[in-house]
Amino acid sequence: MELSQKIAVVTGVSSGLGAALSCALIAKGTKVYGLARTVDKLNALQKKLGNKFIPVVMDITDQKAIALWVETTFSKQHAPDILINNAGVGYFSKIDELPLEKWLAMINTNLNGVFYMSSNLVPLMKLNNASCHIINIGSILGKTTRPDSAAYSATKYGIQGFSEALAKELRKYNIKVTCVNPGSIETHFFEDSGIRAHHNMLQPNDIASFIIHIIETPCNMLIDEITLRPLQPIMNKEEQKEPSSPVCYANSSEVRKEFRDEDQFKVKLVSTQIKKKDKPN
Ligand SMILES: NC(=O)c1ccc[n+]([C@@H]2O[C@H](COP(=O)([O-])OP(=O)(O)OC[C@H]3O[C@@H](n4cnc5c(N)ncnc54)[C@H](OP(=O)(O)O)[C@@H]3O)[C@@H](O)[C@H]2O)c1
Repeated sequence: MELSQKIAVVTGVSSGLGAALSCALIAKGTKVYGLARTVDKLNALQKKLGNKFIPVVMDITDQKAIALWVETTFSKQHAPDILINNAGVGYFSKIDELPLEKWLAMINTNLNGVFYMSSNLVPLMKLNNASCHIINIGSILGKTTRPDSAAYSATKYGIQGFSEALAKELRKYNIKVTCVNPGSIETHFFEDSGIRAHHNMLQPNDIASFIIHIIETPCNMLIDEITLRPLQPIMNKEEQKEPSSPVCYANSSEVRKEFRDEDQFKVKLVSTQIKKKDKPN
């Protein structure tokens, strides 16, 4: 898709990846309706990005407010080309210590909010003569899990299935759906989680540029899912130790170090043991 003069709706723009996505889209000449709850941060972003950024104070868990906003903002002549379901929250805790309101906040934001946004905007996208694109921000924790992530993973695995089914449903309408699953990103996401953000994490601007690239792919090419992981995540000393026994990787002679960023970002060194008889010659 050629991005200039297009219309995008992006949720969760008041910080992190959503703010970076807004900047990247505006730089391409796209008009961005940016949704979040924090008025001050939305206004500050508009000051930075100018008139092509339209701040929208919206709680995406409020189904009625979303329906009303969509109805009064868009029409066949002014239909969105892009929806980025980015807003999300994560709380990591043992299941018997997770407060009900945190569970509900994750379900309501990460799942229900995505449904409210998509179900209200898809009818307008179907009226759009041009190709449209929905990007759902999932997570590496929607592909794999770690202790204390049961609730968050439930929502991100949900987004994974939602996106895959929706991609199959909407491609005949010329609407692409892509689920982007990032590993750890250096944002405010971790502030309430007790996990320390650091510079070895993925950078929001890098992911935003990559998502722009996905949206700009030729109209007949659908990328339905993509996973991004940080290289060289921070490890503690114990985890940096080389495996004691010789290991090899399926099709190469190299030792496989698979960094798992989902384990509290104290990364584990995982080696694939291959029995001697299975080793390639
Ligand atoms: N950071 C990571 O390591 C990481 C890794 C994988 C996936 N992700 C996913 O990436 C997405 C963006 O996260 P981030 O890292 O950029 O986190 P962030 O900096 O905490 O940003 C989250 C955004 O979501 C908005 N938001 C939260 N609840 C909302 C609601 N009910 N209604 C509207 N907006 C809401 C927040 O704005 P207000 O508070 O102003 O509403 C904020 O703008 C999330 O879906 C997250 O699950 C993050």
